[in-house]
Amino acid sequence: MGILDRFRLDGKTALVTGAGRGIGQGYAHALAEAGADVAIVDIDGDAARRVAEEIRALGRRSLAIIADVTRKADIRRMVDTIIQEWGKLDIGVNNAGIGGWANAEDMPEEEWDRVINVNLKGVFLCAQAEARVMIPRRSGKIINTASMSGTIVNRPQNQVAYNASKAGVIHLTRSMAAEWAKYGICVNSISPGYTYTPLVESPEVRDMIPQWLKDIPMGRMAQVSDLQGAVVYLASEASDYVTGHDLVIDGGYTVW
Ligand SMILES: NC(=O)c1ccc[n+]([C@@H]2O[C@H](COP(=O)([O-])OP(=O)(O)OC[C@H]3O[C@@H](n4cnc5c(N)ncnc54)[C@H](O)[C@@H]3O)[C@@H](O)[C@H]2O)c1
Repeated sequence: MGILDRFRLDGKTALVTGAGRGIGQGYAHALAEAGADVAIVDIDGDAARRVAEEIRALGRRSLAIIADVTRKADIRRMVDTIIQEWGKLDIGVNNAGIGGWANAEDMPEEEWDRVINVNLKGVFLCAQAEARVMIPRRSGKIINTASMSGTIVNRPQNQVAYNASKAGVIHLTRSMAAEWAKYGICVNSISPGYTYTPLVESPEVRDMIPQWLKDIPMGRMAQVSDLQGAVVYLASEASDYVTGHDLVIDGGYTVW
């Protein structure tokens, strides 16, 4: 098979959490363009339905699944729905995540719990549910969204819970990769640098951008399209010997 054919995802089924907008929406489009049917999972039902329509317009099957990644019952229903509708799950992209800024000494416990629950526990619950249906088939690709914040400490904003959650995702990814390699399941993470999405569009965040740009060797933030090739690679057989890897896509931020 030619090298470009090994990136094709025809006949594969995928889910992407947090796919109602931003990076997850871009991932869903990329997987669908490469040939996969893609379930759009989001806590925001209108957004999920909108993106599912976009995927159908590309000629692929899609499902809009409303789920909160912190709720085990929702996640069980997410995977059950895909198995009922499509019979199998080949690719799980665990991408839903939230930000939050606070000085460590002022961080309310509830805020810590909120960020860790969505960003770290949510990835664990989704990956666990996905692996349970992949293990009997001895095949699967799990891709978690971490962040360069799992490797470096951003400045000037303080985000101790976010940084810790993303470092957790990177090592959770390695741990699951080690456990599930024997079942033919690859588990990897993608760590974006600063990326233009609704997450960074608030006025508070926008004011920070000129300072961020000085720390990026390439001198620009990422567009969602800068991340799309990576998710297709990690979902495809072109990456069959890659597991436990954190693929950093940050314009060189972590180099400095
Ligand atoms: N934008 C960046 O600069 C950047 C950089 C590095 C990593 N990331 C990570 O990328 C991922 C996506 O970020 P984004 O910028 O696209 O964010 P976004 O806010 O634009 O989109 C996140 C999506 O996740 C959904 N969501 C939030 N909580 C959820 C929950 N509990 N259950 C289900 N869905 C939920 C939201 O409804 C939204 O549609 C996150 O994990 C984020 O931490 C983003």
